[in-house]
Amino acid sequence: MPEKADALLTVENVHTWFELRRFGFLRVGFVRAVDGVSFSLKHGEAVAVVGESGCGKSTLAKTVLGLYRPTQGTVVFDGQRIDGETGNLKKYHSQVGYVQQDPYGALPPFMTIYRILDEPLRINGVRKRAEREKRIKEALSEVKLTPVEDFLYKYPHMLSGGQQQRVVLARAKILEPKLIVADEPVSMLDASVRVEILQLLQRLQRSYNLAVIYITHDLSTVRYFSERIFVMYGAKIIEEAPTATLLENPSHPYTQALLTAISDPDAKNADHIKEVPPGEPPSLLNPPPGCRFCPRCGQAIAGLCEKEMPPAFELAPGHRVSCWLYRQAAVKEKEEEKEKAG
Ligand SMILES: Nc1ncnc2c1ncn2[C@@H]1O[C@H](COP(=O)(O)OP(=O)(O)O)[C@@H](O)[C@H]1O
Ligand SMILES: [Mg+2]
Repeated sequence: MPEKADALLTVENVHTWFELRRFGFLRVGFVRAVDGVSFSLKHGEAVAVVGESGCGKSTLAKTVLGLYRPTQGTVVFDGQRIDGETGNLKKYHSQVGYVQQDPYGALPPFMTIYRILDEPLRINGVRKRAEREKRIKEALSEVKLTPVEDFLYKYPHMLSGGQQQRVVLARAKILEPKLIVADEPVSMLDASVRVEILQLLQRLQRSYNLAVIYITHDLSTVRYFSERIFVMYGAKIIEEAPTATLLENPSHPYTQALLTAISDPDAKNADHIKEVPPGEPPSLLNPPPGCRFCPRCGQAIAGLCEKEMPPAFELAPGHRVSCWLYRQAAVKEKEEEKEKAG
């Protein structure tokens, strides 16, 4: 984890649980959508969060964005806590951009592109019309919707999915945020435009030193720009590492299975990836007490994995894995410490 002093965002032991009631009043329990997640992000850093559908990625995104209040834990952005009172949320929202999966659903259908981009500027006190117009045009040309005059007075439905997502990106960055959270930004687009949109996001990240949290269920897209990868399973981060390390030396059996799935030539489509490894993800209403991947794991250690939740073991600087297979690494570390001390 980077030192707190240079961290832009610090998420510490965040839990976001949803209470589930039957008939509106009978308490059934809690869906533990995010269940003890910690990470931190430097200024300008791009990370990816990877995991299959239902593992808590969107809930984590919304908690980071301040749209959900965590049940437990803290979210600190640029030295300010944003998980508490709503007072500083407005300022926070002008400093983070949010890109969702479905561009069409994210854009108000009865507003022109001009108005869609004008609104955040007005709300955030850019009073001069000429100044706003200049920034709107700059934002459109930055996302390559040119000539901009062809797009300013169009409505979202007049654009293709890829063009709509470019408008969403333009809106996300028009207030010059420090962080963009992109939740499956390309999964609803045609395969042919996915790479273009990811490359655009990467260009914005580099030119403005933006931090980006890129969320995806598709491990094959992460190499485009993320410096680190967090693998999520059953509402927890089960492995994190620099991108190259994770792709070359995946250590958690779940990460290994995800990688096998994308290197398999028959597994080009996402539906297939969801089925590898076989079995169901754990219930987040009553998660098993031990490792959440245990029921699907081919390497589980009987008597241990199904009973006890593995802590994160550090295999190398920045490479952490929550899996009992690596408990020796921790034992060795302790022995070395003892030797040093003795
Ligand atoms: N508002 C909500 N109320 C109750 N359960 C929710 C809510 N949002 C998400 N969930 C549940 O939390 C879990 C994680 O969902 P989500 O964060 O959307 O996962 P992902 O984005 O990885 O697909 C799922 O089991 C989902 O059904
Ligand atoms: Mg989601």
